[in-house]
Amino acid sequence: MHSSSLLSVLALAATTLSAPSGHVEKRAQTVYLAGDSTMAKANGVITGWGVFVPYSLSLPVVNKAIGGRSSRSFTVEGRFDEIIEVIQPNDIVIIEFGHNDGGSLSSSDNGRSVCPGTGAETCNSTYNDQAVTVHTFPYYLTEAGKAIIAKGGKVIMSSQTPNNPWESGNFSYTDGGRFVTFAKDVAKALGSNAMYVDHGAYTASIFNSLGKAGTDKLFPQDHTHTSPTGADVVAKAFVKGLQCGGGGFLKGFVKNGTETIPGTCL
Ligand SMILES: *[C@@H]1O[C@H](CO)[C@@H](O)[C@H](O)[C@H]1NC(C)=O
Ligand SMILES: *[C@@H]1O[C@H](CO)[C@@H](O)[C@H](O)[C@H]1NC(C)=O
Ligand SMILES: *[C@@H]1O[C@H](CO)[C@@H](O)[C@H](O)[C@H]1NC(C)=O
Repeated sequence: MHSSSLLSVLALAATTLSAPSGHVEKRAQTVYLAGDSTMAKANGVITGWGVFVPYSLSLPVVNKAIGGRSSRSFTVEGRFDEIIEVIQPNDIVIIEFGHNDGGSLSSSDNGRSVCPGTGAETCNSTYNDQAVTVHTFPYYLTEAGKAIIAKGGKVIMSSQTPNNPWESGNFSYTDGGRFVTFAKDVAKALGSNAMYVDHGAYTASIFNSLGKAGTDKLFPQDHTHTSPTGADVVAKAFVKGLQCGGGGFLKGFVKNGTETIPGTCL
């Protein structure tokens, strides 16, 4: 811990001790979203699915997703820490990464690519002229998940959304790639305070049913980012996946019955 943050922790502890009740402020159970541009607020013609999630839930949703981030840069920039600091017991954090986590560290490090591997492997790299140690995707998400759970929070690991699966002309989606598998494995390893939603597969399934023309028009800029209408479809796919699995930590907080949500259970 940096000495400055140690000082602020001490200052906070002092404030808490001197507060008359000594209790942490009570507020509604809250859902936090951690992810990249595909989940984040609107930016020009594109919108992330996190914007539409609140329409389906009866809990407050705080969208902390931000464009261009990976499991690594979200961690290094302190964005998981920011969430971990404010969560209270039973808050739920939905985590979805993968679009910016690929790429190679060997030619040039963009600050986002992760070290290949599934566990504690590390890579030595240089970023911004600094020697840095880069960890694996499962490492970053496991560390974040453990810290959330240690504060009494619950984790929903969500697999990354697919790029437009119709871009070759015909529909093509297999397993969504390694970051999908990693998200699933991390959720399992975190135990009973974590769960997994195969958001990638649910989204692909709905895109399949919409056909090529119907899906293409949801991608106004490139094959990754959706329009607001597309973001609504992608948000509903998440909720479908959640409800088909019984709702998990959000059971009782989803406004919609499983049958009323488009798509089929996989
Ligand atoms: C990374 O650098 C450290 C020293 O800074 C060295 O001990 C370690 O062997 C290096 N690891 C790899 C994989 O090159
Ligand atoms: C798509 O599939 C059809 C047959 O199902 C085939 O005739 C056509 O060539 C395929 N198109 C592309 C672009 O792969
Ligand atoms: C659930 O219902 C609300 C309207 O009450 C709607 O805005 C939302 O999109 C629906 N969600 C799903 C997943 O169908």
